[in-house]
Amino acid sequence: MSEQSNIESILTESRVFEPPQSFDERIGGAYIPSLDAYEELYKRSIESPDEFWAEVADELDWFEQWNTVCSSDFPDVKWFEGGKTNLCHNCVDRQINMGHGDDLAIIWEGEPYNGTPEIRQLTYHDLHAEVCRCANALKELGVNKGDVVTIYMGMVPELAIAVLACARIGAPHSVIFGGFSSQAIADRVEDAKSNIVITCDGSWRRGSVVPLKDNVDVATELTELIDTVLVIKRCNNDISWQEGRDVWWHDICDQQDEDCQCESMDAEDMLFLLYTSGSTGKPKGIMHTTGGYMVYTYLTSKWVFNLIPGKDQVYWCTADVGWITGHSYIIYGLLPNRVPTLMYEGAPNFPEPDRFWDIVERHKVTQFYTAPTAIRAFMKWGDEHPSKHDLSSLKVLGTVGEPINPEAWMWYREVIGNNACPIVDTWWQTETGGHMLTPLPGATPTTPGSCTRPFFGIDAAVVDDDGNEVGENEGGLLVVRKPWPSTLRGVYGDRDRFIDTYFARVDGMYLAGDSARKDERGNFWIMGRIDDVINVSGHRLGTMEVESSLVSHDSVVEAAVVGVPHEIKGTGIAAFCTLASGCQPSEELKDALRKHVGEEIGAIAKPDILKFTDALPKTRSGKIMRRLLRDVAAGTDSNQDVTTLEDFTVLAKLRDEE
Ligand code: WTA
Repeated sequence: MSEQSNIESILTESRVFEPPQSFDERIGGAYIPSLDAYEELYKRSIESPDEFWAEVADELDWFEQWNTVCSSDFPDVKWFEGGKTNLCHNCVDRQINMGHGDDLAIIWEGEPYNGTPEIRQLTYHDLHAEVCRCANALKELGVNKGDVVTIYMGMVPELAIAVLACARIGAPHSVIFGGFSSQAIADRVEDAKSNIVITCDGSWRRGSVVPLKDNVDVATELTELIDTVLVIKRCNNDISWQEGRDVWWHDICDQQDEDCQCESMDAEDMLFLLYTSGSTGKPKGIMHTTGGYMVYTYLTSKWVFNLIPGKDQVYWCTADVGWITGHSYIIYGLLPNRVPTLMYEGAPNFPEPDRFWDIVERHKVTQFYTAPTAIRAFMKWGDEHPSKHDLSSLKVLGTVGEPINPEAWMWYREVIGNNACPIVDTWWQTETGGHMLTPLPGATPTTPGSCTRPFFGIDAAVVDDDGNEVGENEGGLLVVRKPWPSTLRGVYGDRDRFIDTYFARVDGMYLAGDSARKDERGNFWIMGRIDDVINVSGHRLGTMEVESSLVSHDSVVEAAVVGVPHEIKGTGIAAFCTLASGCQPSEELKDALRKHVGEEIGAIAKPDILKFTDALPKTRSGKIMRRLLRDVAAGTDSNQDVTTLEDFTVLAKLRDEE
C-alpha cells in the first residue's frame, strides 16, 4: 500500500455497510439499536451533559456523592467534584458485592505452546485476593497514597493485578511498555519521581525471553531514584540480584492478608500517568484522574463493544497494557462491565501465524479488538491461517491506533468477520482516555476507512485556526469543543507544555493533533498528524525523539527523521544523518546506529531506512525540508546501498526556489 493509493482509495471510498441485520439477535440485544436512537441520545448528551453523565455515573459505586457533574471548562477540567470512589473497588469488589464473585474476570494465556497452552482463569474472588495481597505488599514496601509506582512488565496477570493494587491504595501507576529501553525507563522514573519499579525476570516473546529485569538493572544505574524493585518470576531466566533493593513478588505477596481496604479517592485524584510522544522533547506524562475516567471508559466499553454480562461473552483486546488501549480497554473499562477480559502474553505468530485465530476459537471470543498493522500482517500471512479455525463466536470487531486502509478493513470484515460482524474503527488518544469517534455496532452505518461519528457527549469538529468549522469534505484541524469526562488533566510537571500543545492554537478547544475531514453524511475521516508525531505500527513516536537519540551517538552530527509509508507498519521510520568528520559511512555504522536507537528508546524506534548525507536539505531560513526527505525516502528501497552519500544540494536548491 503506498500512501498515495491509500489516500486515493479513502477519498473515493463510498461503500456503506449497515449494521448486519442479524447483529441484534447474535449479540443478545444492541444497546443502541438504530441510527435514530443514536442521534436522539447524542443530542441529549450534548444539550444536557450533566444529566446524561450523572445517569451513567449512577450505575457505578461511589463512597460519597458528587456535588457537581462537570464544573469547569478547558484547560482545567473537573468532573464529579466532591465525589469519592475507588476504581479498583468498581472493577472488583462491586462485582463480588453484587453476588458475581465466581464469574470470570480475567482469562490469561501464556505464549509457550507445548501441545497445550498455559491458561489461567481468575474469578472476581481470585482477583480480589491477589490484588489485596499485592496492595498490602506495596504498603509494606513503603508505598503511600500519591506515590507513583512504575510498572515494567510482560503481559502476565500480575500486570493487571499490580495496576489494580495501585488504584486500590491510591498510588498512581506509570506503566512502561516492555519494549522500551533502560534509558526510557530511567527518563520516565526521573520525570515521575518514582522510587519503585515492578517488573518480571523476563517475558516471553516469539519463543525468546525479553530480559526485563536486566533492563531495570541498567535503569537503576542511570537514575538514583529507584530504591525498590519488585520482581515476579515468569521465565526463570538468570538474573542478577541486589539484596536490599530487589524483592521477589512471591516472597512478599504470598504472606500478605487477603484483604485490603480501598482508599477513598476524590474524583479528581490522579489515577495514573502514562508517557506518550509529542512533537518536541522527551515523552510527556499524561495525567488521568479517577471519577471521570472511570465513568467514560465504563460506558464506551459497554456501548462500543456491546458488552453484556451473563451472556457468555469473552472480550479480547490484543494491545499491551503498556499503552492507553490496554489501560482503558483491557482493564479499567472492562472489569466494571463483568465480561471476562482475555490477556495474551505473546506474539501473534508463535508458534504459527494462526495463533490469534486459535485463541479466538478455543476461548470462543465474542469481541475482538486489534490494530490495523496486525490486520495487514495477517493479510500478508494468508487466509489459510484464519480459515483453519471456527471464528463463528465473533460478534464485534474493533480497530484502533492508526488509520485503517479500506483493503484491510474489507479483509477484516470478510475473512475474520464472515460479513456478520460490525467493525468499530475507534479514533482516540492517550490524552482522551477513551473512544471519541467511533461507530456503535448496532446503529452506525460504516464505510471502510472512516471512524464515523462522535461518541455521546463528544462535541468534535473540523475547524480552521480561528475555530470556525470548515466546509464539507474540506481538511482541517480535529478539535473537541467541550470537556468530556476522561479529558487529560495535565502533563505531569509541565503546565506550559500542557497548555501549548492542546489549548493554545485554537482558542477554547482541545486540539487533537490530527487533521481530519467530515463528509456529507457527518462521518469523520482522519487524515494524519499535524505535528512531528509518527505512528509506527500504531505506536506513537516523536520524530525528534529518534533524532535526539541518533545525534547522541558520537558519529552523528545532525539527523532528520521522517515517516515513510510502510506496507505492514502503516508508517516506517526513515533517518538521514550527517556524520562527524573522520567517520565513514558503512553498513557497520548503520547497524550500530540502529542498535543505539534501540538502546536509547526501544526496538520500535529503530529506523527502517537509514541514509547518510553530507548535508541536510534546508530552506534559506534553515528549516529542514522534511517533505523533500519524505519524497526521497518514499522512493527508496531500504535494501539499496546506503553507503552512498545522498546529494541533496541540487534538489534543495530547486525546492528553495519554489
Ligand atoms: C492515531 C491510541 C486513525 C491518531 C488509542 C491519534 C488513529 C493517535 C485511530 C493517538 C483511528 C488512533 N484512526 N488514526 N481509529 N486511533 N489514531 O495516543 O493519529 O497511542 O492522534 O492512542 O493515533 O495515539 P495514542
